[in-house]
Amino acid sequence: MKDLNNLKGLNSIWTDNLARNQRPDSDALVDHLRTVHQANTGFTELCASSCRDGSGRNSYEWLTEIVPDDENLSILDLACGSGPLLKILVDRKKNFNLKGVDMCPEELALAKKRLINSGVSLIESKAQNLTAIKDKSIDILLCHWALTLMDPIVPVLNEIKRVLKPKGFFAALVDGPMNIAPGYKEVHDLIYSYVQEELPSYGEIDLGDPRIRGTESLSDLAKKTFPDANITIETNVVSLEGPVTEVAEIAAGFFYAAFVLKSEKRKSMITSLARILTISKDSIGTEKHGRFLMPISRLVVEQI
Ligand SMILES: C[S@@+](CC[C@H](N)C(=O)[O-])C[C@H]1O[C@@H](n2cnc3c(N)ncnc32)[C@H](O)[C@@H]1O
Repeated sequence: MKDLNNLKGLNSIWTDNLARNQRPDSDALVDHLRTVHQANTGFTELCASSCRDGSGRNSYEWLTEIVPDDENLSILDLACGSGPLLKILVDRKKNFNLKGVDMCPEELALAKKRLINSGVSLIESKAQNLTAIKDKSIDILLCHWALTLMDPIVPVLNEIKRVLKPKGFFAALVDGPMNIAPGYKEVHDLIYSYVQEELPSYGEIDLGDPRIRGTESLSDLAKKTFPDANITIETNVVSLEGPVTEVAEIAAGFFYAAFVLKSEKRKSMITSLARILTISKDSIGTEKHGRFLMPISRLVVEQI
């Protein structure tokens, strides 16, 4: 029986496996991701749209920048979640043929609401098996903050290759190298230290395929599926400043691990996080001021 109120912590087959020192399989991963998204629908959008880079762009805007304004492009948002990326593309009014795929029905329901009458087609499916998408039918495939969660990943890359047109391209937004964003590693380590008190192997075992998290391993992986493509990985940093407890809540939202904490432990983690994110003793009203910096990478695979 799942405990969606998080009083006992968020539990799934994946967390049960960790608690019993077993290595979770891909079905356990799907169950865990669906459980997290069912209990916290729309959280990615809230966190990602709050953080901006030095030019004022959030990560959705940075990723969609690579989409040219050509009419009639066929674009697929893989793991579209609640649909913020698709909304940016709809608002360009360029007659794009837009599709979104996700495996979480609650996220898709939010996407459906926001994209009503937009002509976007939304499909519930796993990225490993895109049967609803025809071979060589997509000009541009985008994936914002989801490749990191997918395991097995090779079938996903094979499906991306199958659905792309011969000159089509694929671009993904993923976590960037920890060391490019000052203070990020401290945030990461603090959250994991709380989670590991409950589940000691969380971290050593994590969501998704670890190769997606390293710049070189990601590039090598992409090269195996797309040996003749131009592959680039650019890095960037997005940040958020404001009342420190709000900043700490948003920062924690970037870490799936934080969702497994019981509510009391989560509160105490947020208090500690707020302490390390505080940047001045000045208060905004009654609150101190805080800042969080998040490293991001943009992978672009251009078939030639
Ligand atoms: C961090 S959210 C990102 C959502 C959206 N792209 C955004 O950035 O707002 C991750 C999304 O990936 C989806 N997802 C994870 N693994 C998936 C898979 N194997 N197939 C399809 N969707 C998947 C989840 O359901 C979730 O909606």
